[in-house]
Amino acid sequence: MRLILVSNRLPVQWDGTPSVGGLATGLSSFLSEWKSAGNEVLWVGWPGKSIPDKEQISYSEKMRNEFGTIPVFLKQKLADSFYNGFCNKTIWPLFHYFTANCEYSDITFESYIEANEEFAKVITNFYEPGDWVWVHDYHLFLLPGMLRNIFPNILLSFFLHIPFPTFEIFRLMPERFRTRILNGILGADLIGFHTQSYTQYFLRTLLRCLGIENERGIVFHKNHLTKTGAFPMGINVEQFRNYSQSKECNQIANSINVNHKNLKQILSVDRLDYTKGVLQRLNAFELFLKQNPHWIRKCKLVLILVPSRTDVSSYQTMKRAIDEKIGAINGSFGTLDWTPILYQYKGFPFEELVPLYKNTHVMLVTPFRDGMNLVAKEFLVSQDCGVLVLSEMAGASAELPEAILVNPNDLQSMADAILEAIKMVPDEIHSRNQIMTKRLSENSVKSWAEKIYIETEDAAKKNLSFQTKSISPSSDILLPKTNKPIFIIFDYDGTLVPFESLPHLATPKPELIENLKELLNFDHVSIAIISGRDKLFLETIFAEIPIHLVAEHGAWHKPPTSSRWNSLFTSSGEWKSQIKNHLDEFTKRVPGSFTEEKDFSLVWHFRNADPDIGLNAAREMLDELSQVSSNSGFFVQRGNKIIEVREYGTGKGKAALKILPNEDLNIFIFGDDTTDEDMFREMNESVVTVKIGKSETIAKYRFRDPDDVSLWIKNLIVFFNKEK
Ligand code: UDP
Ligand code: G6P
Repeated sequence: MRLILVSNRLPVQWDGTPSVGGLATGLSSFLSEWKSAGNEVLWVGWPGKSIPDKEQISYSEKMRNEFGTIPVFLKQKLADSFYNGFCNKTIWPLFHYFTANCEYSDITFESYIEANEEFAKVITNFYEPGDWVWVHDYHLFLLPGMLRNIFPNILLSFFLHIPFPTFEIFRLMPERFRTRILNGILGADLIGFHTQSYTQYFLRTLLRCLGIENERGIVFHKNHLTKTGAFPMGINVEQFRNYSQSKECNQIANSINVNHKNLKQILSVDRLDYTKGVLQRLNAFELFLKQNPHWIRKCKLVLILVPSRTDVSSYQTMKRAIDEKIGAINGSFGTLDWTPILYQYKGFPFEELVPLYKNTHVMLVTPFRDGMNLVAKEFLVSQDCGVLVLSEMAGASAELPEAILVNPNDLQSMADAILEAIKMVPDEIHSRNQIMTKRLSENSVKSWAEKIYIETEDAAKKNLSFQTKSISPSSDILLPKTNKPIFIIFDYDGTLVPFESLPHLATPKPELIENLKELLNFDHVSIAIISGRDKLFLETIFAEIPIHLVAEHGAWHKPPTSSRWNSLFTSSGEWKSQIKNHLDEFTKRVPGSFTEEKDFSLVWHFRNADPDIGLNAAREMLDELSQVSSNSGFFVQRGNKIIEVREYGTGKGKAALKILPNEDLNIFIFGDDTTDEDMFREMNESVVTVKIGKSETIAKYRFRDPDDVSLWIKNLIVFFNKEK
């Protein structure tokens, strides 16, 4: 199978030098394993600078041949507005909770759309069915949606390498941007995050922004199913471990250490980014030296800052502040033969970084916010006897609780952590690190990618079966195949008419009523409406039409020829008053919700409530009621933004069986809700069952919405007229 990796950043830059950042380094180390297992890989991305038109063809050939990469060329102005602008002045600060650094500009958002389209165009040029396309990170939120539109059956994953923020932060982005972004990501079959928290924040955001609910992390949107989940990215443990124990690594480690043998090494390795909390870390180191003067001349801080996004002004400001702080600390604590901070403003290759990890006694990884942080993991598998001091705000902290965890805003606790780490005895260091490295070995970057592939494939399979059920209302499959009499059962809300904010507003268009009447003019046709609605409502709406009406999910039946309602089931109703009080309590608590009382059931509606509060309350209610419902005379069912508590033994399925005449028939049943699944379940194979809408179903076919049902009715009339 061929994997097409797509990220803004390629593993090598335009000049062939390796790229910085966890995405490029982490994925590169995974790819070496993936390729050695015989898989083909293409990596699509931006070369990092604009390449003149006349050089593009030869450049593309060179990159593909030498590195297996496919460049996406962006003009300098577009790249600047897309990358420096919307990516790094809007999404990056917002998703890392640096709201004061955010700029919201329609111009840069337009560039973001355009750049995503450029990526889509390049992929379209060489995508082949069967490829696995895996899109990475916040630069390309719109790409999954664009690719899904072009290739509806594409096998497509999306992974976010940065945090997904809470809804309160995400909503700061203008609605026109955020709606588009969420719709874009939902084009993927699978969306992966580093932690459970980011996944939960994303799902909550979907609910709050788009009103989309999820079923155990699965989301249905625009006739497409997307799985979501936490997949913490691992590292290539073997590669780091083997090299760190090699002769070559030992030699380099010894040569670096030659002048500082007696000093305890504290290490800090980051891209120079304001999210990494470097200034705060320097302040903590300064405090540590002030409070523990006996450690002066006995330790050194090796501070590696890799240049990053140097065109963005907030990065330039940060660099100036860091340079000044380093100067101040070295000035006030340094002596002629000792400098407390050894500062390097450049990136180091793997071969030199690992010996540094190996020599380290205290590793400081204290970002204000970080999607994962691979440096922390790499250090752990490379160190000889070093302590990890890790920020609680790094995604990695969820997997590494045995590290010394710190809050980067709390200077004193950071200074204390440095002291605790530097004094920690080898036994304790080894026992803490052993647990963590074992965990890291079990979750390598390879198994991370494999899990993502398996889940993506599973989601894609579900989507396929979902699509095979979708059918056009004018399809011949949905016409009667024999001359037997025809019996059609429709649910009402969500099937014959769309949902409205208040139940009484959901009424059929006059055209629908006329069409139903016309259908009934054919004397071999019978129609039933089986609904959760009460008797009065159904009687009023269908007053002029001779059809079966079944109210309250099967409690009452009025045949076409009669004006009387008969009870289809007997009821005790003893449970009702007690449950009514319970539902009323929820109604008081959840503004916009209300309880509807029917003869044999109670319905709690939360369509007009705040989506989050409504859903949480509904879950709580379901949980509580299901615990008491057995042997209590009622049962509980979740519907579309409602919870229905109903007399035991009733239900649409049983009601349908009771009203169907005992003869050989062509039966058609249409419904949208979980209560309609009861009807589908009770019927035999010959019955044509049609689900309206997106969620899972056991029906044979699927329509998009009530308009499809109206079209089917019209089509049937045309068919009968032709047959006459
Ligand atoms: N890195 C490197 N050379 C350096 C500093 C860092 O190769 O001098 C690599 C490091 O090994 C790690 C990546 O850069 O794989 C940084 O990833 P991380 O997730 O820690 O942070 P990010 O830069 O992605 O925010
Ligand atoms: C983080 C992001 C990556 C990005 C890297 C380096 O790790 O999640 O997508 O590639 O930083 O940043 P840069 O802007 O140089 O690509």
